[in-house]
Amino acid sequence: LDALALRGFVKRNLVSGVGSIIGVGKEADVYEATDDTGRLYAIKFYRIGRTSFRAIKAKRRYIEPTTHHQWLKVNISAAKKEAEAVSKLIKVGVSVPDIIARERHALLMNRIYGRLLSECKDLKEPKKTLKEILRNIRKAYTEVGIVNADLSEFNILCTNSKIWIIDWPQAVDKEHPNAEILLDRDVANILRFFRRRYKLDCPLEEASFYVRGWRDKIEIYG
Ligand SMILES: Nc1ncnc2c1ncn2[C@@H]1O[C@H](COP(=O)(O)OP(=O)(O)O)[C@@H](O)[C@H]1O
Ligand SMILES: [Mg+2]
Repeated sequence: LDALALRGFVKRNLVSGVGSIIGVGKEADVYEATDDTGRLYAIKFYRIGRTSFRAIKAKRRYIEPTTHHQWLKVNISAAKKEAEAVSKLIKVGVSVPDIIARERHALLMNRIYGRLLSECKDLKEPKKTLKEILRNIRKAYTEVGIVNADLSEFNILCTNSKIWIIDWPQAVDKEHPNAEILLDRDVANILRFFRRRYKLDCPLEEASFYVRGWRDKIEIYG
């Protein structure tokens, strides 16, 4: 299944080889890949519903075409949704890994050399990092009109000087009935992480106003 998507990238001359796994998330596995100039990429293979899929396989000894078809449909649609969101975000300059191409349920992305924020125990300028994350959430909301809706320290890659927000398949439009709640939840998750790990304080209300563009500055204490 992954092989077919991969062959697609190879046929289009985008990729010439696949390396080791660089990330495993709730919904996808991410592998390193290279083109024939030696440039490195990341390929995200969607695997939504993987566990139940395997369970069915084990019980029935074969995969029913409809089940398989449904599974692929769900994963292709997630990949499409993420690619659409990312292309809009990149245009306005939100810091996300660019998506070069999609084949079925797989996305070819720029490989980011950063660690998950959850693993960053020694950020040099945590205040600056937090401000940068909030600034990007604000840009996504005010300039593209979308909310990530799954934001936490597990969906941000960072170095000491830069951050990237990853994982956008579940992004919701600002008009979605739950958009406001999801936006505040994203912000609260990030503030909680920086409060616990870096003793930084920023009132949720101030951050909420800031990401909606209702105020232009954000004070962070600590
Ligand atoms: N462009 C990328 N460059 C480097 N690593 C990545 C990239 N995209 C994802 N990863 C790694 O793969 C993991 C899973 O990717 P993610 O998009 O969060 O999928 P999931 O929906 O499964 O959580 C991430 O936690 C991260 O470690
Ligand atoms: Mg993730």
